[in-house]
Amino acid sequence: MLLNPMIKIIEPRFFEEEKSIILDILESGQITRGKWTSLFQEEFAKYLGVEKVYTVCSGTVALFIALKALGVEGERVVVPAMSFMATIDAVYLAGGIPVVVDVDQYYTMDVNQLEDAVKRYRPKVVIPVHLYGQTADMDGVMYLSEKYGFYVLEDAAQAHGAQWKDKKVGSIGHISAFSFYASKNLPMGEGGAIATKDKKLAQEVKKWIDFGDHPAFNVRITEFQAGIGYAQLKRLDKNNLRRREIAYRYMRSLNGDLIHPAERDGAFHVYHLYTLRHPQRESIVSALKEKNIDVRVYYTYLLHELRGAEHLPTPNAEKFRKEVFSIPVHAYLSDEDVEFIVDALLSAVELAPHPLC
Ligand SMILES: Cc1ncc(COP(=O)(O)O)c(C=O)c1O
Repeated sequence: MLLNPMIKIIEPRFFEEEKSIILDILESGQITRGKWTSLFQEEFAKYLGVEKVYTVCSGTVALFIALKALGVEGERVVVPAMSFMATIDAVYLAGGIPVVVDVDQYYTMDVNQLEDAVKRYRPKVVIPVHLYGQTADMDGVMYLSEKYGFYVLEDAAQAHGAQWKDKKVGSIGHISAFSFYASKNLPMGEGGAIATKDKKLAQEVKKWIDFGDHPAFNVRITEFQAGIGYAQLKRLDKNNLRRREIAYRYMRSLNGDLIHPAERDGAFHVYHLYTLRHPQRESIVSALKEKNIDVRVYYTYLLHELRGAEHLPTPNAEKFRKEVFSIPVHAYLSDEDVEFIVDALLSAVELAPHPLC
């Protein structure tokens, strides 16, 4: 019997500001290509510290258009083994040839191995993914970009507001892609954006957004999505701080064979997901589910296996995908929810069969 309501892993919340914006849009009759889309683009560009932001209908489309703007037809594109499948699918859709490299202990692209891949495959583009809200080693990636001359497309779908030193992710590489899917730190329901500091690249992106230059899809969002995004952006920093507070509570109180997420030096992690590892994952996940805690596994697949792509050896990713699981860490968890999760997790770890049994 379930005693408590489900503690959800995804819980976007909307307030009076969103309601009044939606009403304003309805009353104005301007439901697409209006002031809210422009406002959101301007505000998000200011927030990131970039020249230009273009909204599109999803993160997948944002990656696709960024790759089209860079021109990857027939070119190699390096991606990490662990990410949502859109990271590699966008490469195929844009006509590129993906090459997959391993991840490091922070679950982001292994920069040492990246150099091997770059020497061997001479990619035109590298896509570091800021997975779970953790910043990839952007000094390492940008150093190699200078040295070997490839473009850097940041996949920042899971990392709105995350930083590398004093810079927001999405403003460090040549171009970046965001998602505003319902689960994200900045949710609109559906939506995405491309951000860039580079005026020329911005012009190339625009050609894929407006009709006319070549055959293209309609990739626009509506004013409703942009209006929600505008209100949510104002709350992003506060919500990210709450996520970090919860993450530190988890880190302080848990022990045993659990491996907590580590924060890379120089990174401001925004805990899109709080992802732990344990060799007895299945038993822990089912014990938590029995207590009505929404636990998920991101990801059971590796990108090269999923799509049959070329790859370097990926021992870390192969180990991690058997052990990772994510517990709720969103900003609207109460302190009681957090304590309940801590207790449930500790007792699940206690009861997990020992690996040698
Ligand atoms: C790392 C990553 N890249 C790309 C995407 C694609 O975004 P969307 O679902 O908005 O198409 C996601 C979405 O989950 C993601 O997590």
